[in-house]
Amino acid sequence: MFTYAGGKYRRRLHLCDRLERRGAATEYREPFLGSGGLTWEFLARNPGIRRVWLNDRNPALVAFWRAAILHPAELSGALFRIGRGDLPALYGSAARLLASLADPPTDRAGLVEAGRAWMVCQMMRFHGYATSSPRPRPNRWNPHYYLSRMERVGRVLRGRIVRLTCGDFGPLLADNRGVVFADPPYWMLDLYPGRFSVSDHLRLRDMLRQRGSWVLTYDDCPVVRLMYDWAEIETVPVRYRYRSRLARRTELVITPEQ
Ligand SMILES: C[S@@+](CC[C@H](N)C(=O)[O-])C[C@H]1O[C@@H](n2cnc3c(N)ncnc32)[C@H](O)[C@@H]1O
Repeated sequence: MFTYAGGKYRRRLHLCDRLERRGAATEYREPFLGSGGLTWEFLARNPGIRRVWLNDRNPALVAFWRAAILHPAELSGALFRIGRGDLPALYGSAARLLASLADPPTDRAGLVEAGRAWMVCQMMRFHGYATSSPRPRPNRWNPHYYLSRMERVGRVLRGRIVRLTCGDFGPLLADNRGVVFADPPYWMLDLYPGRFSVSDHLRLRDMLRQRGSWVLTYDDCPVVRLMYDWAEIETVPVRYRYRSRLARRTELVITPEQ
């Protein structure tokens, strides 16, 4: 639906395949939802999954997803009322609104307003990085596309028991239920509001070690390889754009040893 720092949309088929190799599951958990780069693809491919637990710590992001899932008509209506030329003028108040959220709003109007602000900010920031300065890309503004994506998300979730929480990843890993896709912030790279500290990285490693059936993605660096030297590590080449240049590097897909 939107470009997101560290988003896995381009790698979704590969990652879906790795999740499916974990075996049939009836529950899916994603503790670091972000843009849901592979979420909707994976759920569409696996109709046997009846329970879904999605989570992210960023209240603005969770507000957007709650609005998109619970109130797609109102949210898309609000987006259709914004013209491309309106985006720069809307940016300041949208960014302030999102920064003021300690939790996702609980009422419909508040969720829709926050969801609208989220999409305005995504158009005005490089890859949506909360830390980047405004860099408008209003020609990408496309409410028809957002509506079609929201409808798809609605279809994919229909008939399933869905939880969408806003908080720390810990509770999603506290028991052994379901298959987990974990895509935490990169090692020592602060791209999102709030820090993911060394102790968070270690806590994630320790919790994953206690449970089966998960797929984890990380940037390829010696510390991560060392932290997971007890698991299976696959090295995957990735290409991405940085400052209009095409760059290449590798990322890691980590799974428990079979
Ligand atoms: C790499 S991104 C996830 C990208 C996602 N897989 C996608 O395709 O868009 C990591 C996410 O983790 C969230 N996050 C950071 N710290 C967290 C924590 N302690 N618990 C849960 N989520 C956290 C960030 O807000 C961010 O959205």
